Amino acid sequence: MNSKILVTGANGQLGNELRRLCKNFPGLEFIYTDVDMLDITNPDAVSVFMEASKPAIVVNCAAFTDAEAAEDNIKQARKVNSLAPQVLAAACAMQSAFLIHISSDCVFDGNTNIPYTETDATNPISVYGSSKLEGEEKIKTVFDDFIILRTSWLYSEYGNNFMRNILAAGREKDKIEVVNDQISSPTYARDLANCIIDIIIKSILNPSVYVPGVYNYTNQGTCSWYEFAKEIFTLAGITTCEIVPISADLYPSKAKHPKYSVLDTSKIRESFGIGIPNWRDSLKECLTSLNYK
Ligand SMILES: NC(=O)c1ccc[n+]([C@@H]2O[C@H](COP(=O)([O-])OP(=O)(O)OC[C@H]3O[C@@H](n4cnc5c(N)ncnc54)[C@H](OP(=O)(O)O)[C@@H]3O)[C@@H](O)[C@H]2O)c1
Repeated sequence: MNSKILVTGANGQLGNELRRLCKNFPGLEFIYTDVDMLDITNPDAVSVFMEASKPAIVVNCAAFTDAEAAEDNIKQARKVNSLAPQVLAAACAMQSAFLIHISSDCVFDGNTNIPYTETDATNPISVYGSSKLEGEEKIKTVFDDFIILRTSWLYSEYGNNFMRNILAAGREKDKIEVVNDQISSPTYARDLANCIIDIIIKSILNPSVYVPGVYNYTNQGTCSWYEFAKEIFTLAGITTCEIVPISADLYPSKAKHPKYSVLDTSKIRESFGIGIPNWRDSLKECLTSLNYK
């Protein structure tokens, strides 16, 4: 098997982390694309690009990730999150390539207080969650050569995410209200990118450890958005802005979010021998990269 890896949606949070990490893996050849170069909702464009570049592995980081906007843009959310994974899977099947696809904790309804395993029943409660679940299901109808990684509350130095929004609010405001009754695991995109490269090296390029399927990957430990925000302020040394905990019912949001969407990561840790950092340690690392402290 060659070691050519096509990354789609490479200008997003996860894509940027893969770009950064690839320098440490000169033996792997990465091709980075985003919508301007390869629109994954266009079957012809995908098939032509795949045929010309012949990757052994496709890592799909592209998605419609704005859950609020998805409520008003159902068609586009489904096109990117549901149709496109099927298009990529079909092109991978044609080229005998392996697909690594990223999914979400939002495939669950959150009506539990026990971490979700990969086999638990799904029941999305938002357009975004439904479109992500549909994407998973469509890949499964095409072929078996995939790994679907479900993750939660992704953040990084790049792009639009909760950590960056809280840092900006902390600089600009005296007081902010943050939801305290939704629980999950903040996940540093760099850790997820590291996990993807680990899986590529340990499993996909090594057929003796070939274990396709659905896996959960999040940082270890859990918190509410309020606790996450508090830790961001503490680590960044922000003391001039008060954080007030509020119930999600009081927060204006078109999209419904699961109350509890902690993912059980036992399967990925055991299958690939992967160690996963605690979210507080990874947050500290991310803030250090941004020159906080
Ligand atoms: N962010 C989270 O909190 C979170 C939580 C759980 C799971 N996930 C999943 O994790 C994965 C990575 O998320 P992320 O936060 O890194 O996403 P992101 O930062 O929003 O990046 C997604 C990238 O995909 C691009 N894209 C959109 N439509 C495309 C198309 N038709 N063809 C090619 N590229 C397209 C986007 O371009 P534009 O910006 O120009 O649209 C963007 O550069 C996604 O599958 C997401 O669903 C994310």
